[in-house]
Amino acid sequence: MSPTRQAISHWPDTDELLAKAKRLVDSPPRPIRRDRMQEYLDFFETRCKKSKAATAEAAKYIPGGVQHNLAFNYPFPLSISRAEGAYLWDVDGNRYVDFLQAGGPTVLGSNYAPVRDKIIEVLRDCGPVTGLFHQYELELAKLINRHMPSVEMFRMLGSGSEAAMAAIRTARNFTGKKKIIKVGGAYHGWSDQLVFGTRLPGTGAYEAAGIPEGCLQHTQEFFPNDIDGEQGLRALLEQNRSSGGTAAVILEPIGPESGSRPVQRDFNGRVRELCDEFDTLLIFDEVVTAFRLGLGGAQGYFGVRPDLTVFGKCVAGGYPAAGGVGGRADVMSTLSAGIGAGGQKTLVGGTLSANPVSCAAGYYAILEMERTNAPVLAGQAGDKLCRGLQAIIDDLDLPFFVYNHGSVIHLETHGVLLVDTTDPDFFTKVMQRKDIAEEMGAAYTAEGVITLAGSRLYSSMADTDEVVEEALGGFARALSSVEGVS
Ligand SMILES: Cc1ncc(COP(=O)(O)O)c(C=O)c1O
Repeated sequence: MSPTRQAISHWPDTDELLAKAKRLVDSPPRPIRRDRMQEYLDFFETRCKKSKAATAEAAKYIPGGVQHNLAFNYPFPLSISRAEGAYLWDVDGNRYVDFLQAGGPTVLGSNYAPVRDKIIEVLRDCGPVTGLFHQYELELAKLINRHMPSVEMFRMLGSGSEAAMAAIRTARNFTGKKKIIKVGGAYHGWSDQLVFGTRLPGTGAYEAAGIPEGCLQHTQEFFPNDIDGEQGLRALLEQNRSSGGTAAVILEPIGPESGSRPVQRDFNGRVRELCDEFDTLLIFDEVVTAFRLGLGGAQGYFGVRPDLTVFGKCVAGGYPAAGGVGGRADVMSTLSAGIGAGGQKTLVGGTLSANPVSCAAGYYAILEMERTNAPVLAGQAGDKLCRGLQAIIDDLDLPFFVYNHGSVIHLETHGVLLVDTTDPDFFTKVMQRKDIAEEMGAAYTAEGVITLAGSRLYSSMADTDEVVEEALGGFARALSSVEGVS
């Protein structure tokens, strides 16, 4: 992939970001002023009445009234009736700039017509699923291989969670080893063995309610960037060597939680070297980064070749059943499907996996991204947004910070995912900052901008300069309402 097609224009200085993160969580939290927060809450009460009624009724039938973990739901969830390009509309007719972008799959913008038209054709021709081979499965696999040569073979699945589960099972089957090492704080979906050290590094089984301990006994975590420390990656690999070895190291190449815990530029390369030294497979979880950070994904940007890659989101162009695993032909061959496959086969499957709609959506979305240069345009929008937000923060003299890896932008105002898990006040700090995160998200929304959890933003090709300017206006008003701003 030519360097001009990369969607990350520059790699932020990781040491500087980590220092800023430390300063943020060590200083007193700065919430929205109470009078302004009341005005924001009034917006929801007066302008979002239909959403309130619908989601209150939903709470009787759906736990919590909302089914999306990434959905903002304070003071109550919004009911969305329309999505187009850079915008969302709720059932009350309010329009928002959409930086949630469904959690990342829509680099072309929401509900992109050229892909939608193709999907309607597919539906007319063969409906959503047949359970038999369709040409789009091949077209998608070939296209991925063209952009990511490490993906010699590819298997489409139903979600990123399934794909991560399939990747570790395949790694174990292929290597005959048991241990899986992940980076603490990373989310690789909700499968039993990967809900370990989730969201915050060092938290082990903290979020593993309902998962028997035994499921987690072969999963280990190390802190982001910690290669050579006492409990770092090398130490774990060495320790495992004497007890059967490590099947795989799985990581998000830009750092856990889409880079909320940023990693050093050379981190992935160093992990690759260690995996080679210890005869361990390297799995990149590119559920967020594949195609978003350039058509070659994060592996193209870093120039590091993983053995397996986990896909989700963009791989089905924002359409349902978005998941897949791909990689070295010898490793992937253990995943061969069909009635005759048996013995050492890695069992994965799914009635709706690799259906014609998902495969066609992924295929046409990637082709459109190629034609329009969408990842780079989305990255440029991310750069512009980031510069604008930094100017607002500087202007208002706030202790906040913002950075981006192309179209993945982090606006840190509360640092809930940055609190040190060894801090004696860890729980108090996290709970307090979680509340502020919710309020920030609500304030941005009332100002017409939807974010992921009040701190993460995904930009898309639809984010023109005008859209970014409009959003910056909303952010400026919300951030001017923070306590202590005169
Ligand atoms: C890095 C990463 N891996 C895996 C997943 C799980 O993917 P899915 O939601 O499709 O199960 C996610 C979801 O956000 C993710 O961000």
